[in-house]
Parts: sequence; C-alpha cells; structure tokens
Amino acid sequence: MSNKTFYVTTPIYYPSGKLHIGSAYTTIACDVLARYKRMMNYDVRYLTGLDEHGQKIQQKAQEAGITPQEYVDGMAKEVKELWELLDISYDQFIRTTDDFHEEVVAKIFEKLLAQGDIYLGEYTGWYSVSDEEFFTESQLAEVYRDENGNMIGGVAPSGHEVEKVSEESYFFRMSKYADRLIAYYKEHPEFIQPDGRMNEMLKNFIEPGLEDLAVSRTTYTWGIKVPSNPKHVIYVWIDALMNYITALGYGQENQANFDKFWHNDANHEVLHMIGKDILRFHSIYWPIMLMALDLPLPTRLVAHGWFVMQDGKMSKSKGNVVYPEMLVERFGLDPLRYYLMRSLPVGSDGTFTPEDYVGRINYELANDLGNLLNRTVAMINKYFDGNVPAFATATEFDADLAAVVADNIAAYHQQMEAIDFPKALEAVWTIISRTNKYIDETAPWLLAKNEDQKVQLAAVLAHLAASLRVIAHLIQPFMMETSNAIMEQLGLGKDFDLENLSLAGLPTDIKVVKKGRPIFPRLDMDEEIAYIKEQMTVDKPQSEKEWNPEEVELKSSKSQIKFDDFDKIDIRVAEVKNVERVQGSDKLLRFRLDAGDGEDRQILSGIAKFYPNEQELVGKKLQIVANLKPRKMMKQYVSQGMILSAEHEGQLTLLTVDPSVPNGSVIG
Ligand code: ME8
Ligand code: MG
Repeated sequence: MSNKTFYVTTPIYYPSGKLHIGSAYTTIACDVLARYKRMMNYDVRYLTGLDEHGQKIQQKAQEAGITPQEYVDGMAKEVKELWELLDISYDQFIRTTDDFHEEVVAKIFEKLLAQGDIYLGEYTGWYSVSDEEFFTESQLAEVYRDENGNMIGGVAPSGHEVEKVSEESYFFRMSKYADRLIAYYKEHPEFIQPDGRMNEMLKNFIEPGLEDLAVSRTTYTWGIKVPSNPKHVIYVWIDALMNYITALGYGQENQANFDKFWHNDANHEVLHMIGKDILRFHSIYWPIMLMALDLPLPTRLVAHGWFVMQDGKMSKSKGNVVYPEMLVERFGLDPLRYYLMRSLPVGSDGTFTPEDYVGRINYELANDLGNLLNRTVAMINKYFDGNVPAFATATEFDADLAAVVADNIAAYHQQMEAIDFPKALEAVWTIISRTNKYIDETAPWLLAKNEDQKVQLAAVLAHLAASLRVIAHLIQPFMMETSNAIMEQLGLGKDFDLENLSLAGLPTDIKVVKKGRPIFPRLDMDEEIAYIKEQMTVDKPQSEKEWNPEEVELKSSKSQIKFDDFDKIDIRVAEVKNVERVQGSDKLLRFRLDAGDGEDRQILSGIAKFYPNEQELVGKKLQIVANLKPRKMMKQYVSQGMILSAEHEGQLTLLTVDPSVPNGSVIG
C-alpha cells in the first residue's frame, strides 16, 4: 500500500428528480480521476451520495403522497442503479439521512454553538407566505419604496407579495473568519480551479463584506434538528457540506479513514469536484466551517461548467433533457463516458448536441481508434500468424512516432493532474492520429511483398501494437471496456502499468486474437441523430403532475412589465345602463355605464359590428379601464375610459363579470 492518498468527492445531489447528464458528468469525471489515481498507485477513496433533507424534498414527498423517508429511499435506489450502469467505482455512497451523519452534524452544530461561532439571533427579511421563502432585495421582481427610498414591500418572482418577517434563527459568524480566508486564498492560489474563479469569489462575496449566514430554519421539519432547540432544523447546506468529513468517520468511534485521507500536503490530496453553481458554498462557507473546527482545508476545488442544450438550459418543458440511461442503452457506456469527458471544456459551458454525439462516435471512436485496432490485429495475423513481433526500431518513421508518443504521454499526465479531460484525451487522439499516419508512411502491405524487408515489417507491426498498448492504458480511466478489449485483442490481458508507460514497454511473446471484434460499430448518422432527438422530447410534461412553473417559457406578444406598471391601471366593473349606435360610424357604440363613480360615465367602443343586436348588452356588467385619459371622439363625444374585450382571430367579445359583483369593484 502506498503512502500517497487521494480523496475525491462529487457533490451530494438533491434527489428531487431523475438525474440527467449533468450529474452524470460530475460523477463520471470523479470516477475518471479515481481510476487514474488508482492506476498511478495512490490510495484512493471516492465518495458520492445524496443530499436528502430540506423543504424541496419534503414537498416532493408530499406531492407523491409518501413520507420523505420513503421518497428518498426510492430515489437512493434509483441513483445507485444509475451509477452501476455508468460503472462508477465509488468507495462509499453517503446519504444525509444516514444515522451517523445526522448524529455528527448535530454534535458539530452544538460544538460551534458552544464555542460562539454560531449564535441565536433574529433573521429579518422579506418573506412570501405563498412561497414559504425569504427573498433578498435583489431577488425580488419588484420593490416598493416610500418617498425616502426605504423599502416598504415587494413582489417575489412568483408574483406574490412579500412582507417583512422576523424569525428566530441561528447564525454562523462568517465575518470573523473573512481575513483568514483571504489569507488562505493568497497562500494557495491553486485552491480554486479553474483560475479566475477565486477572484470572482473575492470580488463578489468576500471583499464587499461577508455577512453572517443563517444556519437554521423553523419553516420546515425535514432535516436534522438542533438538539438544544429542536424547533430549529439545521440549514441544508451545513448539513450537506459536512458529508465530506462525516463519511470518513469524523466525530465517530472509528476515525481511521478520516485520519488517513483528510490531509492536505505533498502526499495527500483532498479534491472536491463541483459545478460552478455551488462554488460559493464550497469556497467560502465550507473552508470557514473547517477553520472553526480546526481542520485542514481541502487541497483543490474544481468547479466545472455546465452542459447546456442548443436552446439553453436543460428543461423538461422544452423537451431537451438528455438522460444517460437512454444513451447507454442505444450506444453503450464508453461513448457516453468519452463524449462527456471530451466535450465539456474546463471552465466554460459546453453544448450537448445529438449531431456531436453521433459524430464523435463515428469519427473519433469507430474511425480513428476502431480502425487502428482492426488493421493492426488483421496485419499481425496475416503476416506473422498472430505473433506480435518483438519491439525494435527499423524504419525512418519510428523515431518520430516514439517522440510523439512520449510527448503526449507526458502531456496526458500533466492534463490529468490539471483535471483538463478534453486536453488529456486530445493528447491520446494525437497519438492515435500519428499512429494511423505511421501506417500510411510505412505501408506494411508493400513491405510484406519483399522478403528483404521482413525486419522492417516486424518493427512496424510491433510499433503499432506498442502504440495501441499505450493508448489502451491512457483511455483506461475513461473507457474501461474499450481499453480492456484492446488489451485482450493484443493478448495482453489486464497487465496495466500506467506509471512506467512507453512504447518500448511492449512485452514480448504475445499473440493477438484470431479475429478482432470491432470495438465500435459504425452508425447511420441521420438515423441515430433522429433517434436521440426523438428521445429528448418523450419527457415533455403532459400531465399536471409533471408541471414545473419555473420551467415554463412565458409567451407574450408584448414585452414584460413590472407590477408597478400594471398597478397604474384602474380596471373596474361597470354596468351598462344604456347603449346606442353612433350616427356616422358603423363601428362605434356609445355606452352609458355605472362604474361606481356616483354618476354614470360615457364610453365609446368600436365593437358595433360584433354586436348587431346591441340592446342585449343593457344590464350586463363589463370591465372598463377607469383612469384612461378622457378623449374626444367623432368630434362631439367624450369617451371616459375603455371597455375591455377579448380578441381572437379578429373576433371581439366584451368581457363580462358575474352579475353579483357590485358596480365599481376594482379588478386587479
Ligand atoms: O447543488 N452540467 O445538488 P444538485 C453539468 N445538493 N453539471 C451539472 C448540470 C449540468 N447541466 N446540472 C447539474 C446540489 N450538474 C447540492 C450539493 S454538495 C455538499 C451539495 C451537477 O442536485 C454539478 O456538479 O443541484 C452541480 O454542481 C451539481 O450537479 C448540483 O447538483
Ligand atoms: Mg442545484
């Protein structure tokens, strides 16, 4: 066992719905790292799991008519099945409902309370009763102010009004640690990857002044209770972040894994892989909590970008969600792992397109890699009866191939360390292309025609086998099945040695398989692209149950207005007292209405042709805009407002109101 350790973690995902390729991306990325480090002889521990507490989960369970525990139990089973399908080599799957986790988090909370890092205070904020949520000023869709500019109310994004509410809450004294955090950043410029994100955190959140964080809630119950004050539930983020250490046994009887893995020095790395959406929690609150607990900080936080769709964020209502299960069923696991790792550039978002997906399988996997293997195995069978010639140098092209391979092995390791998977795979594909070119340069089929060139032919085929062996090693963390198939077809079994990898390391006395099975089938591009597209839309919500208002794209023929603008309009119920056609106009009707003003008002409306029998309108209660500036019409009539009507395909219908509604009632 080595003394180098590597502890890698995924975020613990909210099991509030089926996981899509976004979570699969992070989990596969960590799996690639874990497998790579294991091959490099690190002692690796890979943690993933679920974040099972909180209001959202409580709601989901309620909707499903089951208890939150039943709900998360079901989801945990599904998620574990998904990771099995994706061949994720995690060592531990933590759930925040695990007893050991709940106990330790409660204990930590009390400890921080006792030492004064957490205090009981009052949280005052703008609360929407309907949303059961607090909003900051900047989150509100609308803010009301008095004449001095002081905020006196507002409207949540949902359209519901917020009110000022004070609620007892525990707070974490973040401000106390701000200087230490800044100092830590300065001393550890590689703490947050990719570069640039650290500065973002400093500028946006730390330097403007760190506010104390509310770390308990009394508005829901599905969570870990504060032992000394159980009407409080520990805020879901405190609960969640602690998973990284409770999983290792921190605060428990057996702390062996914690003692072994939670170090941050030349031989021990702790790496949290996260999406950029949750960097703030991991780069600010988590380090501060660790400081308060007097524990080492993680070595690296890697914040990757998002997979988005051509039409933006993945969302069910758009019908653009891609589920990993479908892609694995149709194309196998390795293409999915390859595609995800190859096409999300580090530090920015990447776009998933069916065209890219199928294209990469056909060109990079089937063509570039698959053909190289097929041709090599076929030629070794044909010219050497399956016996791989011993590695030797004999042609003018050997040196360049060797140099390209050596350079790209080095580049690969460097990129794997930097966690730049697209570049690491690019290095592998540079080797693949160079090797394919080497076949064209050396033309083994010509060498085979001449008995004098047997030595050269042997060297060429040994180089091809050696290069494929190198490739199989480098892709092993990404595509286990393909890598194993290459090794097997070369007669190498599972004899991997990634640490000392070179062309010349090709073992002697090996024999390729009689007939190499193609590792990637060629795909009919159009057919497969159409298939993925069709699958992406099957999840469009049809029933009320799947409806998620937040994901609905609101359509309007007019641009959006603020509530304030709408509120300026005075719409009221008005009863038709009298109506007549206007002389000299075939459009206008002249109404006399009781809009609760005390006296009747007059409105002219251009709807005559839709009401040939206009007298039927007398006694009807309509809706009018009461504060429209009066205007003269037909030179002699003043119109004191506007009657609301609905238009559909050129047909106008006046909007009536139930007769029981009193005249002058305000509509809004
Ligand atoms: O935030 N592209 O959980 P979560 C790439 N429970 N990655 C994506 C993605 C996308 N389109 N969508 C999601 C939480 N992810 C908390 C974490 S950790 C102590 C608590 C990935 O279910 C990405 O890694 O919302 C992101 O950070 C994570 O899923 C968020 O998962
Ligand atoms: Mg999220």
